[in-house]
Amino acid sequence: MHISVIGCGYLGAVHAACMAQLGHQVTGFDVDAAKISALQRAEAPFFEPGLPDLLAETMATGRLTFSTDPASVQGAAVHFVCVGTPQAENSNAADMTYVDAAVTALLPHLADGDLVVGKSTVPVGTAERLAEQVTAAQPGATLVWNPEFLREGFAVKDTLHPDRVVYGVPEGAAGESAAAVLDEVYAAPLSEGTPRIVTDYATAQLVKVAANSFLATKISFINAMAELCEATGADVTQLADAIGHDARIGRRFLNAGLGFGGGCLPKDIRAFMARADELGVDQALSFLGEVDAINGRRRERMVTLAEEELGGSVKGRRIAVLGASFKPNSDDVRDSPALDVATKLEELGAQVIMTDPEANANAKARRPQLAFVPSAQDAAEGAELILLLTEWQEFVDLDPEALADLVDTPRILDGRNALDPAAWRAAGWTYRALGRGKH
Ligand code: UDX
Repeated sequence: MHISVIGCGYLGAVHAACMAQLGHQVTGFDVDAAKISALQRAEAPFFEPGLPDLLAETMATGRLTFSTDPASVQGAAVHFVCVGTPQAENSNAADMTYVDAAVTALLPHLADGDLVVGKSTVPVGTAERLAEQVTAAQPGATLVWNPEFLREGFAVKDTLHPDRVVYGVPEGAAGESAAAVLDEVYAAPLSEGTPRIVTDYATAQLVKVAANSFLATKISFINAMAELCEATGADVTQLADAIGHDARIGRRFLNAGLGFGGGCLPKDIRAFMARADELGVDQALSFLGEVDAINGRRRERMVTLAEEELGGSVKGRRIAVLGASFKPNSDDVRDSPALDVATKLEELGAQVIMTDPEANANAKARRPQLAFVPSAQDAAEGAELILLLTEWQEFVDLDPEALADLVDTPRILDGRNALDPAAWRAAGWTYRALGRGKH
């Protein structure tokens, strides 16, 4: 099939490459010339495991091209809208500028029978509004809402082998034929038995924000339990293991620590609350305000722990921060808990030395006042305190004995409950973690 992908960021670039991998002819379009020129050289404009190889492989077949020309989407029968919906500057709502601009630019190029497929995370009601614009411009074209659930760090796998596909389609024959076209697009994953849910626009849009809200709630639930553990001397990691054995609860997304960040969870729960407010059902989502607040308190707690460990103040003290990305296997620093904590410590007068295997450049661009070094060993040199804030495997694998020789004082705060306390204590370290009291 001939496909266009509009917006080549974390979602679109991966989607374009994966669609080409599935055998389709794909044109990726973005207004960002730097991003497109990197992609034209088969270079991933961000860190995503597996993406560089996939780009090289699919571009060599001639099935995948990239362009900054809006007319390049012409001729494709299926147009995926993959642009971002960041949090608006002055409110909790989603900024719809990019979605609106992408659809407006697409309208003049639509042909009879085309499918416009929304993948961006949007406030419910957006698809209904865009569908009117699409049919007004080209009565033979149909809009479908097909939310994306990929996780950064696993984006290629999640796109090629999704755990479900959801189609929000209009009622009647147009909806049926749109679903049939999408079945052709996703023929390979569907043949693996991927569950497929065909529904209306509103449900499809809500599925995405409901899923992310549930995940955020699960993380904040265990982090609320961490606060209780801190007040009682209990161990949140054992608590999570114990409740996680209940299959109704499950252990995944119950890792207590610094909480969630990134380009999705924080802004999605806020935009969901803003939309519920507009719909007059704000009470239904008021708990998400608490989810957000619990999440923010973990960052503050980390700063307080650092102050406690350093005798009451971090001013003038040398602190090594391991991790800048919002989670391992990503260079994304959007709403990164690690970067947030490091920034607060620096504001309190600490001398912060930060390191991340992939995100140093992105973090430096956002926080030029912080110092960045290439490795954990460089950061640890002369440190009075180490904070593990993003659990990259290479940090989890650090040798506590070797690191003890580099630091000024062997003190570590584990912000992700990722290290083995016994091993670090045995090597002479003072070890503390969020939600674990003295454990
Ligand atoms: C998320 C959703 O998982 C994905 O389905 C959706 O499409 C986009 O948003 P992503 O932002 O890539 O994906 O990250 P995710 O793996 O969900 O992690 C989000 C944050 O939660 C990270 O900061 C992570 O460190 C944190 N987290 C995750 C925890 O603090 N504890 C956990 O147990 C799990």
